[in-house]
Amino acid sequence: MAEEPELDVLLSTELTFPPPSGFVAGAGWSDPAVYERAAADPEAWWAGWAEELEWIEPWHTVLDWSDPPHAKWFEGGKLNVSANCLDRHVAAGRGGKVAFHWEAEDADQAGPEGRRVITYDWLLDQTQRFANVLKGLGVGKGDVVGIFMPMIPETAVAMLACARIGAVHNVVFGGFSASSLKERMEVSTAKALVTADATLRRGAPMPMKEKVDGVLPDLPDLEHVVVVNRCGTGCAMLDGRDIDWQEAVAAADPVCVPEPMDAEDPLYILYTSGSTAKPKGIVHTTGGYLTQVAATHRMVFDLKDDDVYWCAADIGWVTGHSYIVYGPLANGTTSVMYEGAPDYPGKDRWWQIIERYRVSILYTAPTVIRSFMKWGEALLAGHDLSSLRLLGSVGEPINPRAWLWYHEHIGGGRCPIVDTWWQTETGAIMISPLPGITTTKPGSATLPLPGIKAAIMDESDEMIEEGGGTLVLTTPWPAMARTLYGEPERYIETYWSRYGNDVYLVGDAARIDEDGYVWIVGRIDDVINVSGHRLSTMEVESALVSNEGVAEAAVIGVPDDATGQAIVAFITPQDGVEAGDGFTIALREHVAEKIGKLARPKRIYFADDLPKTRSGKIMRRLLRDIADGKELGDVSTLRDPSVVDSLAGQVKASGGR
Ligand code: PRX
Repeated sequence: MAEEPELDVLLSTELTFPPPSGFVAGAGWSDPAVYERAAADPEAWWAGWAEELEWIEPWHTVLDWSDPPHAKWFEGGKLNVSANCLDRHVAAGRGGKVAFHWEAEDADQAGPEGRRVITYDWLLDQTQRFANVLKGLGVGKGDVVGIFMPMIPETAVAMLACARIGAVHNVVFGGFSASSLKERMEVSTAKALVTADATLRRGAPMPMKEKVDGVLPDLPDLEHVVVVNRCGTGCAMLDGRDIDWQEAVAAADPVCVPEPMDAEDPLYILYTSGSTAKPKGIVHTTGGYLTQVAATHRMVFDLKDDDVYWCAADIGWVTGHSYIVYGPLANGTTSVMYEGAPDYPGKDRWWQIIERYRVSILYTAPTVIRSFMKWGEALLAGHDLSSLRLLGSVGEPINPRAWLWYHEHIGGGRCPIVDTWWQTETGAIMISPLPGITTTKPGSATLPLPGIKAAIMDESDEMIEEGGGTLVLTTPWPAMARTLYGEPERYIETYWSRYGNDVYLVGDAARIDEDGYVWIVGRIDDVINVSGHRLSTMEVESALVSNEGVAEAAVIGVPDDATGQAIVAFITPQDGVEAGDGFTIALREHVAEKIGKLARPKRIYFADDLPKTRSGKIMRRLLRDIADGKELGDVSTLRDPSVVDSLAGQVKASGGR
C-alpha cells in the first residue's frame, strides 16, 4: 500500500494521452485555434453561445464588469430557462425525443414503472402542470421553493416548474439530515417544499416526509409541502398544508406561459460548505448560467444528437443541477437517470445500465471509480460497454491509478477522459480537456476552457508560470455565482478580497506544469472533500459538540484510498463520560442526525485535552501528523504535551483504521 502514492506521482509525470485519431475525426471541436479565438474576444465568444439559446428579448450589454466583483451578463436580455430546456425542443418537433431513461433501483421488480421513458413532451406537460400547482399555492416570482427529493424525474420537473414561474429553487440533497434541511429552509425563508414519501435505498424505503414533518413546526414561513408518492408508504398528510403531487398535477391546468425573466434574475440557491459552520447559499442567475452550462456540456462532452449521456451524480449537488438538468436539457440531450445505489442488487449494476441503454458518455466521480477498482474487473466480464465513447470525472482530484483503470477497463482504452474541474460557485465546468483537442495527463484537469482564465499565485502574491500555489480565476465568466444568499459581505470577503476585487479566490491549492496544465492539489481552507462532497471542519465540529457527552472536538481531513479524504475527529469527552466503542458509535450516529451520513467521522480518538498552544489554539497540523502516524518532533511548546502521546498511542493501536 505504501508505494501507491509514489506510483501515482511517477505515473503523473510521465504519461500523456493524445486524443485518439478516430475521435478527433468526428469531434465537434478539433482545432486548437478555438482557444485563441475565445481569448481574443471573450465577450464575443460567450455572446455566440448565448445566441444558441432562445431569448424573449435580446440583451444590450454582454458583460458589465464596471463594479467588480459584481458582474452582469447579458443585461437587458429576457429569457425563460424552462422554455429553453423544453418548449423550444417540442416546438421544433422533437417532443418525442427521450430526455431521460429513468431506471428505478428496484427496476426488475417494479414492472413498467421501474423503467420510465421520459420524453420532452412529457416533461413539458408535467412542468406546466406543476408550475400551475405552485402558482395555486401562492408561489410566485422571487419566492423560494425547497426541494428535498430522491433521484426521480419529478425532481427535474419541480426545478423546471420553479424556473417557469420565476420561483427560486433551493434543492437540498436527499441524504442530508432533517436539521440540515431545516437550516437551509430557514435561512432561505422557503415558502413551499417539494418532497417524497420516501426514497428507495438498497431495496428499502427510507422515509423522507416523516423527516420533514419533524422540522415543520420550526418553519413558520413554509406554508405548503407537496409530496410525491414514490414508495407507497402512506405517509401522514396534514389537511390544508400537505398536497399530494400526483393528484394535484393531474387536476392542474396543463398550460402555463413561461415567465419572462431578466438574464440576471436568480434561478436557484444551492447551499455548500465553507470554512465556517454556516453553509453558504450560492446564488446562480438565469442567462449567463444557462449559456455556460449549455456551452460546456456541448463542448466538453463533444455532444452529438444521438448520444446517450449518463451523469451519475445526484441532482441535489451542483453537478446534478448543471449536468443532469440544465445543460443536458438545454441541449436536447437523451440522458440516463438512475435512482439508486451502484452496488444494488449487485456490484455490476452500472455495467448493466450502460449495456441496456447503450450509454455513450459516462460522467462520474473518482470515489466511485475507486470503489469499482476495489470490487475488481471480474464484474465487468460479460457486459458490453462498447457503446461508451467518452468518460468524465468530477468532484475531486482523480489519482492517476484510478484514471488509468477507468481508461483501460471502462473505456476499453479507446475513450478520452475529461477530468472536469469546477465548483458550486463557478456553476459550470472551468478547467477541463476538450476531448478532440487536448492531450490529457492522468491526474490533471489540464487547461482552462476557451473563454476562461485561471492562474496560480505564489506565496508572494505573484502569478507564476510554473510551480505550486493558490488557484485563482482572473476574468469573470457567465455562470459565476453572483452572491451568497442573504450574506453579500461574506461573498466579497470569501472570494474577492484576497487578491483584490477582480480576482476570484478558488480555495484550492494547485500546481501548474511546464505545459500550463493545472494539477489540483487540495483545499487551502478548512473544507474536507469526502467522496466529492464538501464539508467544513467547523460544521462537523459543531455537530459533535452539540452532543452532551462532548466537551471539545477538533476535526481534520486525512487522505483516504476510497473517499479521497476522510474525516477524523479528536474528542475530549465531558467528565464522567466513558470514551469507548459505544460512545464512538453514538457520536457517528449523532453527526448523521445533525448533518447527514456523509459527514460521519471515519475515526474518532479521545483525549483529556486536545493538543493546544499555550495560548489555547488547537494545533491542527499536529493532529494531522498524529493521524498520519508521523514522527512528531518537539512538542514541548504545547500546553499539555502528554495528550499527544495518548492520541498517538490510540492511532497506533487502531492501525489508523
Ligand atoms: O477542491 C475542488 C474539488 O471540489 C471542489 C468543489 O466542490 P463542489 O462545490 O462541491 O463541487 C463539486 C462538483 C463540481 C473544488 O474546489 N474538485 C472539483 N472537481 C475537481 C476537483 N478537484 C480536482 N479535480 C477536479 N476535477
